Amino acid sequence: MNIGIILYSQTGNTYSVSLKLKEKLITAEHSVDIERLKVVGEVRPGTKDIRFETLPDIEPYDALVFGSPVQAFSLSSVMASYLTQIASLQGKKVAFLVTQYFPFPWMGGSRTVGQMKKICEPKGAAVCGAAIVNWSNPNREKRITEVVEKLSKLF
Ligand SMILES: Cc1cc2nc3c(=O)[nH]c(=O)nc-3n(C[C@H](O)[C@H](O)[C@H](O)COP(=O)(O)O)c2cc1C
Repeated sequence: MNIGIILYSQTGNTYSVSLKLKEKLITAEHSVDIERLKVVGEVRPGTKDIRFETLPDIEPYDALVFGSPVQAFSLSSVMASYLTQIASLQGKKVAFLVTQYFPFPWMGGSRTVGQMKKICEPKGAAVCGAAIVNWSNPNREKRITEVVEKLSKLF
């Protein structure tokens, strides 16, 4: 499959997990591109006027993984803005990768996954799974390995 990992990562965590996922998917003989969203200027939670340096085109991909950090107990406003701008996800398999600082998914991660679903499903996405990495989990590296394994098996 031709898979696009499109992510926002303010401090590098979501990006680092995405790189591991890319390696795993390539080992499984998929073709994978990572596209990291870059914004013009500074972004704070709640910022409405978000301008992107470039807007990744989802059209070439059969499947997509959208990656985002939790910010202020919610989906980062950058990823929310990007997903909202996609015209259609019809016929695309979609999964979500979320990272957050706090140790439990109910501290923003699950809500973030729910928000991503709510934007993507009405655009026709076939949502096939999601995974959350809690950065302050003392077993974080093990968790990252599990998350990469789980997401890579969806395609
Ligand atoms: C502005 C801001 C708000 C954040 N809010 C939360 C939050 O509500 N809950 C949480 O668990 N982590 C929160 N975090 C921590 C990030 O979600 C976490 O460090 C994440 O792994 C960062 O990913 P990134 O390096 O890809 O940006 C916040 C971080 C920032 C910068």
